[in-house]
Amino acid sequence: MSDSATATLTEHPKPNGLEGIIAASTALSHVFGEEGRLVYRGYDIHELAGKTTFEEVAYLLWFGHLPNEHELKEFNIQLAENRFLPQAVIDGIRVLPADAEPMDALRTGVSLLGAVQPDRFGGTPDRDEAIALAASFPVILAAFFRLRQGKEPIKARMDLNTAQNYLYQLFGTEPDEKHWKPLETYLILLADHGLNASTFTARVIASTESDLCSAITGAVGALKGPLHGGAPSKVLDMLNEIGSVENVEAWVDHALDNNQRLMGFGHRVYKAEDPRAEVLRGLAEIASTPEFFGLSKTTEDVVLRKLDERKPGRRLYTNVEFYSAAVLAAVGLPGDMFTPTFAVARSVGWTAHVLEQVEHNRLIRPQSEFIGVTDLHFEPIERRH
Ligand code: ACO
Repeated sequence: MSDSATATLTEHPKPNGLEGIIAASTALSHVFGEEGRLVYRGYDIHELAGKTTFEEVAYLLWFGHLPNEHELKEFNIQLAENRFLPQAVIDGIRVLPADAEPMDALRTGVSLLGAVQPDRFGGTPDRDEAIALAASFPVILAAFFRLRQGKEPIKARMDLNTAQNYLYQLFGTEPDEKHWKPLETYLILLADHGLNASTFTARVIASTESDLCSAITGAVGALKGPLHGGAPSKVLDMLNEIGSVENVEAWVDHALDNNQRLMGFGHRVYKAEDPRAEVLRGLAEIASTPEFFGLSKTTEDVVLRKLDERKPGRRLYTNVEFYSAAVLAAVGLPGDMFTPTFAVARSVGWTAHVLEQVEHNRLIRPQSEFIGVTDLHFEPIERRH
């Protein structure tokens, strides 16, 4: 590369990650970043969390209104009838190594569903496909969870809701209300969130007129990264490493001295507290042990104070991932199932966004700013250094 080309590249400002760019229209949900508000189809998240069921919220996102009793009954049957996996998908998951990441197993399972059931998932994405695919998410995860322990997957039960069935299929025991209720609220809070990175990924893929499983496989991959949905198990690692409240100050100072990102803090859009963090903090206080909640709360307080001192003006607050760790651990899930459980909730939002994209589709194809050189001349290989 010529000296002038190197100079051009190093002088260029870093990309802004599409910050502030409007890349799609949606009536599904909106993040009011300055106010710290999240709205699903007109309802503030506080109107829904703890008051309604996950199924009602899923219905709201897919159908545009909250269901009446008859609609909910029919919808619950449709969900229950779709909680099964074709044998070829179970066999595909079975051959994965036991130490494979559950997010990789989920991504593989979603992709396999598309490959082995093109009649069920291969058309232009529609609501029935969306419901069937989202209903399959917890089933794929529970199958992998059991297979990696050398146990056989368990069939779903028609009488259980999404949160109950997930726990039942994971652990094989009657789900306890003290576990499935907080899990249900968690699922409601995480069901959709504007044009986040994984949702954008799903919409980009759908915009090419690809199929639903392809769009959602891409979304699972995008969610996996720690700057997006991959943070909560790292929050758990962080809290375990800190160990006790006496160690918090020194641990946080050391991490920030070494330019580490503290997992569970900061957000691209929220410049106030994430409203989901507020609800999850309350849930964690009830569901978690007093020791673990105390450690989480002290860590949160110290981190917020230190981020404010060291990064003035950046407006870094607690995000959804921080207390997700305490809540999901209290529900009985191991750390590597946290992000996949986030995906169980978000499968509803992703598929609803795909339906919206398909309804008013135009190929998403942005431009890049070209920062390379244009005046090189071909050299035969024997003359190149
Ligand atoms: N810890 C320490 N510093 C932070 C953190 C953090 N968690 N988050 C942001 N900062 C700092 C950055 O170092 C940067 O400082 P600088 O201006 O001195 O360079 C400044 O705040 C702005 O950071 P950006 O990277 O520009 O902010 P961006 O909007 O791109 O990042 C993100 C948002 C990725 C979530 C970031 O806050 C982060 O990495 N958080 C930790 C990971 C995390 O919690 N992920 C889950 C996000 S929630 C979700 O997706 C569901």
